[in-house]
Amino acid sequence: MDTAEKKVILKVENLSLTFGKVAALSDVSLEVYDGEILSVIGPNGAGKTSLLNCLSGFYRPDRGRIAFDGQEITNMPTHKRAEAGIARTFQGIQLYLGMTALDNIMSGRHIHMRTNFIQNALYWVWSDREETDHRLVAEDIIDFLEMEAIRDRVVGSLGYGLRKRVDLGRALALEPKILIMDEPMAGMNVEEKEDMARFILDIQEAKKIPVVLVEHDMEVVTDISNRVAVLDWGFKIAEGRPEEIMRNPSVIKAYIGEE
Ligand SMILES: Nc1ncnc2c1ncn2[C@@H]1O[C@H](COP(=O)(O)OP(=O)(O)O)[C@@H](O)[C@H]1O
Ligand SMILES: [Mg+2]
Repeated sequence: MDTAEKKVILKVENLSLTFGKVAALSDVSLEVYDGEILSVIGPNGAGKTSLLNCLSGFYRPDRGRIAFDGQEITNMPTHKRAEAGIARTFQGIQLYLGMTALDNIMSGRHIHMRTNFIQNALYWVWSDREETDHRLVAEDIIDFLEMEAIRDRVVGSLGYGLRKRVDLGRALALEPKILIMDEPMAGMNVEEKEDMARFILDIQEAKKIPVVLVEHDMEVVTDISNRVAVLDWGFKIAEGRPEEIMRNPSVIKAYIGEE
């Protein structure tokens, strides 16, 4: 993809965030182009999750600005960002374990629902027109993520890889304009990783939305990313195409320093 022709959908400018004496982010600037897969990599504690948390609104930066789709969102609350089209999956999964895969995906529709989701879940009225529309979206996602076999399974009974897939389904149910994923493949076996990598590429292709991804597996990063940004000790130390990044001396040094 030629990024020169691409529209900037997310713009991070001079973001800084400290926790006590720890500088989680130091003057980080970053742009995300529409339709691209951008991986954020870096050693443990580099600030990757902190950056994603600033994007989704879980953390507020001490300094800097974030603009999404032409609108400043730096201090916008999390739910408003979700309404604006920012969806994320979590490093630790946050799902309703006692509910089915389908119901968890439905829970991702809440911003599109007039009534409160939990309230709705208690008084599940299937004849409701609105409900039916939401259900169709959820069924589409089940189909897209190949989850037919588990749609009615309680999430607590599913293995880790499938829970991650449900979490992705919940994020997609938002019909987002950007998808942010924190270590979607951590803890997965090779086959589960391949599935997840394929779904991320399918999302880019079919939904035409950019994906910002934190991932440790460099083979996966190289395979699926259009661009890679590297954080180290809160600083962005490099940014570029995957093949450039993997042979960048400061990047190699940052990773060797971790050993
Ligand atoms: N909520 C928090 N409270 C205190 N320190 C935090 C918090 N979140 C992150 N940090 C610190 O900020 C630094 C960056 O953490 P994090 O963003 O989780 O890194 P990464 O995801 O790259 O491993 C670490 O030193 C971490 O301990
Ligand atoms: Mg992290």
